[in-house]
Amino acid sequence: MKRDNQVGAGLTAMALLRAIASSRPESERLFHDPVSRLLLPSPWRILLLPGLRHAFVAVVERLGPGALGNLLCRTRYIDDVLNDALKKGLDQVVILGAGFDCRPYRIPGINQTRVFEVDRPIPLRLKQDRLRKAFGRLPPHITFVPIDFDRQSLDEAMDAAGFRAGARTFFIWEGVTQYITAEAVDAVLHYVARSAQAGNEIVFTYIHRGIIDGSARTEADERIVSRARQSGMPWIFGFDPAELSEYLAVRGLTPIEEVGAPDYRRRYLDPINRRMKIFEGEKVVLAQIARKDERT
Ligand SMILES: C[S@@+](CC[C@H](N)C(=O)[O-])C[C@H]1O[C@@H](n2cnc3c(N)ncnc32)[C@H](O)[C@@H]1O
Repeated sequence: MKRDNQVGAGLTAMALLRAIASSRPESERLFHDPVSRLLLPSPWRILLLPGLRHAFVAVVERLGPGALGNLLCRTRYIDDVLNDALKKGLDQVVILGAGFDCRPYRIPGINQTRVFEVDRPIPLRLKQDRLRKAFGRLPPHITFVPIDFDRQSLDEAMDAAGFRAGARTFFIWEGVTQYITAEAVDAVLHYVARSAQAGNEIVFTYIHRGIIDGSARTEADERIVSRARQSGMPWIFGFDPAELSEYLAVRGLTPIEEVGAPDYRRRYLDPINRRMKIFEGEKVVLAQIARKDERT
């Protein structure tokens, strides 16, 4: 129960940070997420007031230096690649470990696709309750899929939810791989490569393995790692970047690009003259499902 409350508070805090980021003037903001604020319970909304939001951001920055900059920039990157995929044409979007991701309710055109929000039962129920409060009903293009990646396979859950293997699909797996076992990461990526069409894409984040096992951790990383441990969601899995391409190739996935702090600065922050500390230990990978005859 305590852990469930902590998970709810963690997801609510992420929604609050995205809501705060969205309240900046258009010329200064990285993305616009007007829905996150609707998922906040009333007592949390007070933290959107100008003085209080600055104080909240300062506390977040002290607890995990650079974590906020990373969260905001990766949100922007994933918005961009999702929008690109929607422009090319999509039938389905699968959000793995969806948490309080509001893309299904705010990205233009996504409501023309079927969206699967996949997560553990408790966060999913919490999100559904908050969405009902915000909108009065659950939007019809969404299917919620309860699952625990550490214990269950996606095959049955997604089949039962109506996932169509032949349809044009985009997968999002943001901020999740560090919380689950190596076996679960392997199983999810195998599922994606097996169940989707060649050319479909997945975007996912990962933490550098050196930060997980402590072999390459700065003092700032140490604070972020211990914050995760204290919140009841310890980080247990990471990739060695040097091994990632080969790891993906074996599973039928071809990396298209990998981005992190230097890319975020160049692409998003410099053009709007913003300076933010960005945690260097997380990367985002965009990968494509390889054709069966091209697999290693
Ligand atoms: C840090 S949150 C990220 C949420 C969302 N993707 C975002 O970026 O806003 C991690 C999410 O992964 C989910 N998660 C963690 N372990 C999981 C597991 N074993 N099975 C399914 N979901 C899991 C959590 O419930 C939570 O929603």
